[in-house]
Amino acid sequence: MAYRPPKAAIGGDEVAFGAPHRHFRVTDSTNARARELAEAGVPGGTVVTAEEQTAGRGRQGRTWTAPTGKALLYSAVLRPLDERHMLLPLAVPLAVCEAAEELRPGIECAIKWPNDVWLDERKLAGVLIEAKPQDGWAVIGVGLNLSIAPDEFPDDLRWPAISLFGALVAATAALNRHLDRWVAAPRNEILAAWRSRDALRGRDVAWDGGAGVAEGIDDSGDLLVVVGGGDRVVLGAGEVHLRL
Ligand code: BTN
Repeated sequence: MAYRPPKAAIGGDEVAFGAPHRHFRVTDSTNARARELAEAGVPGGTVVTAEEQTAGRGRQGRTWTAPTGKALLYSAVLRPLDERHMLLPLAVPLAVCEAAEELRPGIECAIKWPNDVWLDERKLAGVLIEAKPQDGWAVIGVGLNLSIAPDEFPDDLRWPAISLFGALVAATAALNRHLDRWVAAPRNEILAAWRSRDALRGRDVAWDGGAGVAEGIDDSGDLLVVVGGGDRVVLGAGEVHLRL
């Protein structure tokens, strides 16, 4: 792989995402490729994309599949990784929301804790962050659906007919830019923006072992849930579901 020199730093040692960029027609998992590159010492900001994954990884050990060429399959190396990135799992979906909204003006994305991106109550994108803090890097994996059927939107929000190639290039560029901003954003901005997009707040949720009403996130990004009797439970990891 021939590396282009990284973009100029945004300031201090903040990362600019998008260079170098390696694109695969098919690979097992862009996160796996990006991890290998991180282990090999590539600079922060390195991005890997693919048209197709044969072993895409999802959260909680699940697999992630997407029809060939119809989703942005994106992994980026964040390096250095340090205490400024404690809220990275909250910052990344904010960047994905803004990238999607830029690509399709008029839509409004929400976030389902911890980092699923929703559009009209359906999952538009998933985020898988794999980190090796002792080596000072993380891989930010994003799968973003780019080909939602037009009739899933109200008439006035229909996606413009742009080529798939154009959509993938534009989506990659938009995500790079919004990650630049959100990965380096101050905690209070991340928390405020995340809270303004919280898809679960005030709604009935359930998880393995309990159920209650979601009350938002605390300042570490943990989910607060009020359960029977008014007690409050703090969920730090795992999966919650809406109770419909
Ligand atoms: C989730 O379970 O919601 C997270 C899904 C993350 C999928 C993306 S696709 C690009 C990158 N490569 C992977 O193998 N996984 C992530």
